[in-house]
Amino acid sequence: TKSYNITLLPGDGIGPEVISVAKNALQLVASLEGFNIGFEEMHVGGAALDAVGVPLPDETLNSAKKSDAILLGAIGGYKWDNNERHLRPEMALLHLRGALKVFANLRPATVLPQLVDASTLKKEVAEGVDLMVVRELTGGIYFGEPRGIKTNENGQEIGFNTEVYAAYEIERIARIAFETARKRRGKLCSVDKANVLEASTLWRKKVTALASEYPDVELSHMYVDNAAMQLVRNPKQFDTILTNNIFGDILSDEASMITGSIGMLPSASLGETGPGLFEPIHGSAPDIAGQDKANPLATVLSAAMLLKYGLGEEKAAQRIEAAVLDTLNRGFRTGDIHSAGHKLVGCKEMGEEVLKSIDSKTPAA
Ligand code: NAD
Ligand code: IPM
Ligand code: MN
Repeated sequence: TKSYNITLLPGDGIGPEVISVAKNALQLVASLEGFNIGFEEMHVGGAALDAVGVPLPDETLNSAKKSDAILLGAIGGYKWDNNERHLRPEMALLHLRGALKVFANLRPATVLPQLVDASTLKKEVAEGVDLMVVRELTGGIYFGEPRGIKTNENGQEIGFNTEVYAAYEIERIARIAFETARKRRGKLCSVDKANVLEASTLWRKKVTALASEYPDVELSHMYVDNAAMQLVRNPKQFDTILTNNIFGDILSDEASMITGSIGMLPSASLGETGPGLFEPIHGSAPDIAGQDKANPLATVLSAAMLLKYGLGEEKAAQRIEAAVLDTLNRGFRTGDIHSAGHKLVGCKEMGEEVLKSIDSKTPAA
């Protein structure tokens, strides 16, 4: 039998709660599909700071590097918010992404028919939305140099960062986006700020130059401020969105709300080689942590992306996706997606219902 090693990084806040649900789901589909998964659970973020004094211990990074895939919950919390930058939980995530070279972050946002009522947008606006944000993840202002805080000649403190993209970084993420659009509805919208930023001017030039290699994909460009507006005006106009690291961070949180909740959105972070990193797009939600209120479905769906993109176990992935839909069809809702007429449950109970659905559902052919 096939056997996979998965590094589990529960992290902080609601991270451990949602990871526990996703781990059970992975174990169950593995047994149903006849493969083995070995889990190595490691500290990351605040949990690692508390345990060993650094946000990304070497053992954690080494485990991740030699794994077949990594599933991460979330990191961060009030307790560490005033730490120096290099001792912030968030640094673990940035180091991990950089070290694994997972430059392509896929963030699908789909409005499920079951959750149209949970969207903050009107039904006719939200219904049928199905888009994919392709976010560049290992470059841009998150990683650009120079950066820092210094005191200038007038004694003023200056905080500064650099938005920087090399042509190869733009081209490799653009290729992923063109190929993603090609497999979807063939529409690609590249989002930038080319009217103001040189890094975006180059971005637009390089993306445009690639278009001739993908004649079946309809390419358009949009400024990020307009894109933020269009996402709530008429989100159905979008199929695949290609954008840089920081714009993708912001637009994907915005897109999540169209679907009903950030607690629903998974992500896959992939490189050219090596293991992928899979995580919900939400954070550690310190306001609800430890209260059994978190929606575990974003992490469960991230586990499905792990099976599909990370391990190539497409059928197991479909089992999980089908089970999530079945659980919603049976009326179970955590607080973030709850509306009248549905059964309000906590994180654990939602997890138990997903397991029941996995047991009873065979995947779509
Ligand atoms: P957040 O995503 O943690 O929370 C924003 C809001 O959404 C909160 O009200 C929270 O309760 C709610 N929410 C998030 N996930 C939910 C879920 N699964 N179910 C129900 N409700 C959910 O963002 P924030 O509050 O800005 O950040 C909190 C901490 O998380 C910070 O330390 C931040 O740096 C970190 N963070 C980590 C990641 C990550 O690990 N990938 C992502 C974003 C933020
Ligand atoms: C995300 C998070 C991270 C990001 C933070 C926690 C570093 O917001 O995964 O969306 O900005 O990429
Ligand atoms: Mn984010």
